[in-house]
Amino acid sequence: MTTPKFPENFLWGGATAANQLEGAYNEGGRGLSVQDVMPKGLMTAPTLEPTEENLKLKGIDFYHRYKEDIALMAQMGFKVFRLSISWSRIYPNGDDAQPNEEGLQFYDDLFDELHKHGMEPLVTLSHYEPPLNLARNYRGWIDRKVIGFFETYARTVFERYQDKVKYWLTFNEVNSIISAPANGAIFPEEMEVTLADKWQAAHNQLVASAAATKIAKEINPEMQVGCMVISMPTYPMTPKPKDQLAVRDFMNENYAFTDIHVRGEYPGYLKRHLREQGIEIKFGENDAAILKEHTVDFISFSYYVSLVQAHDPETYQSGEGNIFRGLENPYLDSSEWGWQIDPIGLRLVLNDFWDRYQLPLFIVENGLGAKDVLIEDGAGSFTVEDDYRIAYLKAHLQQVGEAIEDGVELLGYTSWGPIDFVSMSTAQMSKRYGFIYVDRNDDGEGSLKRYKKKSFNWYKEVIGTNGASLYDAE
Ligand code: BG6
Repeated sequence: MTTPKFPENFLWGGATAANQLEGAYNEGGRGLSVQDVMPKGLMTAPTLEPTEENLKLKGIDFYHRYKEDIALMAQMGFKVFRLSISWSRIYPNGDDAQPNEEGLQFYDDLFDELHKHGMEPLVTLSHYEPPLNLARNYRGWIDRKVIGFFETYARTVFERYQDKVKYWLTFNEVNSIISAPANGAIFPEEMEVTLADKWQAAHNQLVASAAATKIAKEINPEMQVGCMVISMPTYPMTPKPKDQLAVRDFMNENYAFTDIHVRGEYPGYLKRHLREQGIEIKFGENDAAILKEHTVDFISFSYYVSLVQAHDPETYQSGEGNIFRGLENPYLDSSEWGWQIDPIGLRLVLNDFWDRYQLPLFIVENGLGAKDVLIEDGAGSFTVEDDYRIAYLKAHLQQVGEAIEDGVELLGYTSWGPIDFVSMSTAQMSKRYGFIYVDRNDDGEGSLKRYKKKSFNWYKEVIGTNGASLYDAE
């Protein structure tokens, strides 16, 4: 067996989202976003009005402390830092005639700070945080007008940051809109929403993604635009052909999003699926051409869990996850939140995407949400002995190395939540992913002080040796 080698210039780093770390929801001219009305994360129905509790809980004050936080990432040797632009900092209502200069300036300063430390920004245009006004007055992404608002927003930030940002992602986990419409400003509890509406919203996002790619290339062809999906390698519960078919149906519903981003057209299996559900997507006059002509430069994805499917799912125990659920896999361990841990699944998914598309890949989320205990470090400060996080990341990164040996072209790896912040699905602070502990509890109380965990130095070593330390003898 050869010891895998990571490519030179591999982009090691961490990934974040504005709504989960910035805080300062009412500063700098920011408008409310849909995340401000989800009191307990995605698991609860949004209400159209924010609660005091929810506003209080958002973020870890990165808005004011980003210099300190980026300096910590730099200490770990980060080459790349994934963040999202909060759309409602730039266009507070989504449909404003002019952008908010204070919001634009904030990201200018942030990108400068990253470059000062030699870090490449990797920027998501829309990470589950459309302006709330788009839900209140437009039915969110179901409404075609939102494509135009998104184009205006994308043009504004591409023009402004073309010399500071090379790598862009359009929609975070674009394949989640059917299962998690609230993240796309669609609130089924507040407005009548059919399955056809959700697929129309998916179509509108796909067109908006292609339109943004077109705009980016017109402004600066050097900018690289990628799609971003939740990846979930899926196993059949048994070798029964019908179980394998269930896997295929599930995978196709997700492959549809990368197929359209990469190949520029609706695949036959999706057309059939929609036809059989009686769903007719309304295409705008130029949609087909835009999709075909403006495909992506690379594919990025999140990876947390693998899934199991069967043709008779009611026979089995269902599994956990934040957006998609499968059946419980009896051969895998689980995190404290029941998410099943499968490092080999990551190698499989890398190979699948590479074989299917032969486009560069980028792992832009992967990590373990766990309960950490802060202890004294013996030197007058505090730390966390998070060997479980090190074990998780090490096992996953070793499989990444295997996939690279398999021939997969991989641009980089950004672990999710390099610094602790609020969970997307549950809004808990206690579900921690970071190398850096943030003193804040689930009620929003705490000093917000930052402490290095044991994994901090471990990841620093991994980056410093370009992955070689992953293979050191124990
Ligand atoms: C991904 C999202 O699905 O999962 C992130 O892109 C999210 O926003 C991450 O935080 C982990 O999920 P959770 O629910 O543990 O925060």
